Amino acid sequence: MSSFKDMRIVDNFYQTSSFFPMPTVLISTLAEDGSTSIGSYSLCFPYYIAGKGYYAMLLECRNSSNTAQNILRTGKCALNFLEDDRADFKETVRLGFPGETSAEKMKNCKFQLEDGLACADGTARPKVISKAFQVFECTWDDSLENGYEDKARIGQLEGVEPPYKDFNGITSKFGCHFILKVEKILMKEKYWNTIINGVKAKGFPKVPVDYGYRDSTNFWYTKFTKPIAEKIPAGKEADLGSVMYAANRVDDVVKFSEDACETLVKVPRVFLKLVLQGCVDWAKENNCTLITAKEMQIINDKRKAEKGKK
Ligand SMILES: Cc1cc2nc3c(=O)[nH]c(=O)nc-3n(C[C@H](O)[C@H](O)[C@H](O)COP(=O)(O)O)c2cc1C
Repeated sequence: MSSFKDMRIVDNFYQTSSFFPMPTVLISTLAEDGSTSIGSYSLCFPYYIAGKGYYAMLLECRNSSNTAQNILRTGKCALNFLEDDRADFKETVRLGFPGETSAEKMKNCKFQLEDGLACADGTARPKVISKAFQVFECTWDDSLENGYEDKARIGQLEGVEPPYKDFNGITSKFGCHFILKVEKILMKEKYWNTIINGVKAKGFPKVPVDYGYRDSTNFWYTKFTKPIAEKIPAGKEADLGSVMYAANRVDDVVKFSEDACETLVKVPRVFLKLVLQGCVDWAKENNCTLITAKEMQIINDKRKAEKGKK
């Protein structure tokens, strides 16, 4: 006999049929009068994370929302992530109550706004929330699945008739999906340092976890608790001999010393070739034929510096 019960799957199954941990994102968009409007969203996740030429997020929202209408019209938005704070979550829930126009809800908005960084090129963009710990400034990729065709349906607020897109644009009578190209990631200095200079538990932002709207009354979320680190499984480290074998087969000319290979034993096997190739490429550019621990240090410092610049 199974140790589970069979749960019914109904609309909004992530909050009506299950417990699904989600982020809370305040999305700023440009209203028709050029002012910034803010809506609360949780169904917002990384979509393209590598190998696609650009990075993207996916947003799932009601197609009649101010946010959806503004993204359809202007393509621009900013995803603001706030730290855990009861009063801010209360304001987030207020900004997440449907039915108000942008002007009505923004009249009493308690968040201070400022320009982001992406508007430096002169594009009109929504402002960002000053107290956010990070912000993704994004542009809707309306070329995927000819999403731009749905601009013709702006203003249909009582439910949109078919046909529907599968994944980018208006996807059902009341639903909408947007693939949002990440143009810039803005980060407060403290957390910028955590990412660039090394991760420590106290360097994490206090990010709450949202469990959505339940019991038709409340939004449920859990407060932040300090993150803990779990080491990769023991015994998964490659043995030095096999790293040296792989390293010295990558190129006819460029070779790796034993102490260089020692720095690579923790790299998961599936990524080893890619990492070794990166080192060889660096060696060729720098007329180096033997990569030792010293060169590995230079390569790592360069990677760190590049990460810092981006
Ligand atoms: C914490 C929170 C998360 C929410 N997540 C979503 C979501 O992912 N998708 C959605 O369509 N609505 C979501 N809502 C409801 C929207 O915020 C609501 O439709 C609101 O009217 C949107 O504001 P806007 O019309 O200004 O865009 C959420 C509300 C709250 C409070």
